[in-house]
Amino acid sequence: MADTDNMKEAKNYYPEIPQRSELFFLKGSNSYDWGMKNRLARIFSPVSGKTVMLAFDHGYFQGPTTGLERVDISILPLVPQADALMLTRGILRTIIPASTQKPIVMRASGGPSILKELSNEHQAVDMEDAVRMNVCAVAVQVFIGGEYETQSIVNMTRLVDAGMRCGIPTLGVTAVGREITRDARYIGLAVRMCAELGATFVKTYFVPGFETVTAACPVPIVIAGGKKLPELDALKMAHDAISQGASGVDMGRNIFQAEAPVAMLQAVRKVVHENMPPEHAFELYQDLKNAPAMA
Ligand code: R5P
Repeated sequence: MADTDNMKEAKNYYPEIPQRSELFFLKGSNSYDWGMKNRLARIFSPVSGKTVMLAFDHGYFQGPTTGLERVDISILPLVPQADALMLTRGILRTIIPASTQKPIVMRASGGPSILKELSNEHQAVDMEDAVRMNVCAVAVQVFIGGEYETQSIVNMTRLVDAGMRCGIPTLGVTAVGREITRDARYIGLAVRMCAELGATFVKTYFVPGFETVTAACPVPIVIAGGKKLPELDALKMAHDAISQGASGVDMGRNIFQAEAPVAMLQAVRKVVHENMPPEHAFELYQDLKNAPAMA
């Protein structure tokens, strides 16, 4: 029923309590509009400020990577333990149930296969289709020092511009060519360029001296796992990265190529969100791996 005179006395406007205006929790992200922040808050936990993203977009240039031959079989069981899913639109539409509540970070650049010059990528998804798929971010490869460096930067800035129009964050992913030395100087250059040119957050590799990379990057950084490592080493890398200022991980092969992928993802979560020492997380991994399967 509409407001009536005799209800007036029940109203309380709390005039003595000023309305609160909260700062957004994520590094460098306070000036964005509500939709952009809301999407970021679905990828990064507002409690820990961190994220554990599961990357399985490798097929966009590598085809059926080891562990991703059947994404429906190897990846779907991992989904409940991931904070966000990084994948291509082909896999999203064909394999991932539309009922999922997990935020999607969609690979939006591509072109060359492993048989060609990898830096020769173009934008591969229209922002309109990203909106249609309700994604929380788009991801674009940036090849600093690569043959098509400028083209890859333009791919990113175009996605940033399109994303800004509809509140969709852009993840700049720094690709490191074989001929490039993977050190803090190079990674620092690459991530800083991504941030300066508009990336909302950046994905890169962990290197010695990583604290200088995170300190000089004004937006959140998540680390890639890279090639498969022994599980304890992968947990140590995640721990070192978080201790040195990373805002999370976006791991692929070190999860889905692990002996026990679900257990590995659970152990990584403990390191990233709860700062569990890697040795303890490895014990947890072994316990979970050896636990008898539920009937
Ligand atoms: C970057 O090239 C792609 O996003 C990869 O598919 C992803 O970064 C690989 O993740 P990982 O190195 O952890 O397997």
